[in-house]
Amino acid sequence: MTRRDLLKMAIAMSAATIPGSWDELAAETSAHSPTSPALPGTLRDIASARGLHFGAAVPWEELADNPLYAQIIHQQCGILTPELELKWDCLRPTPQSFDFRKADRLYVFANSHGMLFRGHTLVWERALPKWFESTVDARNAESVMMSHISTVVSHFAGKICSWDVVNEPIQLGDGRADGLKVTPWLRFLGPEYIAMAFHAAHAADPNAMLVFNEDWLEPENAAAQRKRQAVLALLTQLKRSGVPVHALGVQSHLSAELQTAGPHFQRFLQEIEDLGLMIIITEMDVSDQHLPADIEERDRLVATQYLDYLSFMLQFKSLKSIMTWGLTDRFTWLAKVHPRPDGLPVRPLPYDAELNPKPAWEAIRQAMETAPRRATTT
Ligand code: XIL
Repeated sequence: MTRRDLLKMAIAMSAATIPGSWDELAAETSAHSPTSPALPGTLRDIASARGLHFGAAVPWEELADNPLYAQIIHQQCGILTPELELKWDCLRPTPQSFDFRKADRLYVFANSHGMLFRGHTLVWERALPKWFESTVDARNAESVMMSHISTVVSHFAGKICSWDVVNEPIQLGDGRADGLKVTPWLRFLGPEYIAMAFHAAHAADPNAMLVFNEDWLEPENAAAQRKRQAVLALLTQLKRSGVPVHALGVQSHLSAELQTAGPHFQRFLQEIEDLGLMIIITEMDVSDQHLPADIEERDRLVATQYLDYLSFMLQFKSLKSIMTWGLTDRFTWLAKVHPRPDGLPVRPLPYDAELNPKPAWEAIRQAMETAPRRATTT
C-alpha cells in the first residue's frame, strides 16, 4: 500500500470516527507521516537561523491527497495555518455542534513535524455557515460569538501559537466615521464586538498571541492612508482600554506592479510598533494577473516584489513570522478570484504547479538571509 493510499485511508477513517484523545489522533496520523529532519537550506531552516518563522496556509485535503506536497510543506514551513478548516463554515455544521476533525488532523500533521500552528479566524463576516443568517440576531449574537470563541480557542489551548481573532474589520466604503465594516457582528453587537472577541480569546488561552488581521494596507494612495488611520485609531483605543491585542496581521495580498515600500506605510508600521504591537505577515502572495504572458518575465517580476516587500518589512524588528497563502501555484485561491484575462494559469507563489521552486522561493530566501537576526522566535 502506498503512502498516498494510507493517507486516503486515514481521511476515510476520520470521517467515520471522532478520536478519543489527542494522543490517539497523533498516533494515527504519525503512522502515515513520519517526521523528517529539517533540511539545511530550506526556507524553514533559513528562517529559523535568523530567529524567524516561515510558513504557509494550506487546506487539509491538499496535504492528504498529495504526499509530495505534504513533504515540501513540512520541509519548507516551520508554521502552518489551516486555509479553511477553522472558519465557521467548516467548524459549525449546526448552531449546536462543532466539527474539529479536519482542523485536528492538520494540527497533528503540523505538530508531528515540529511545526507551529496558527488559527484563522474567529470573527469574520465571510465563510459563515448557511444557518447563520436565519439563526443569529441581535438577541443571541453575543452568546453565539462568545461561545464559539471560547469553545474553539479552548479546544486548541496550548496548541495554537497565534489566532487571527478579528479578520478584515475595516471597510471605509461602508461610510462609518470609525471606518468599521458593517457586518452582522457590528449590526448586532456594535463596535464593542471587537474588544469582546479579544477578551474571550484571551480568557480561553492566555498564552496565545492575539492578532488583528487586515488586508490592503500597503498602497500609498489616499484610500489606503485613510484605512491605515482607521486601523491605527482602533488599535490605539483597544490598547488604551487594556484589550489583549498583541499583533497586527498584515495580509500582504499584493500585485507584482504595486509600489509597496512607501513612506506612509513605513510610518504606519512604525506607529504600530510604537503601540507595543508586533507585526505578522499572515497571507502573502503576489498576483501576476496583469503581467505580460512570458513566464520568465512574470516569475522575475513576482520574485522582485517578494524580495523588495520582504526586505522592507523585515526592517521591523517585531516581525518574526512570514506566511504565504498557499505554497504552490497548483493550489492558489487567486486562480479563481484574480484569474488572468488571457486565461493562462496564475503564478503567485514560491513553487510552480509541478512543485518546483521558482525565483520567488529564492527571493524569500534572500530577504530572510539578509534580515537582521531576531533575538527570540516567539
Ligand atoms: C480564502 C481561501 O483561500 C479560499 O479558498 C476561500 O474560498 C475564500 O477564502 N483573506 C483571508 C482568507 O483572510 O481567509 C481568504 O481565504 C483570502 C483572503
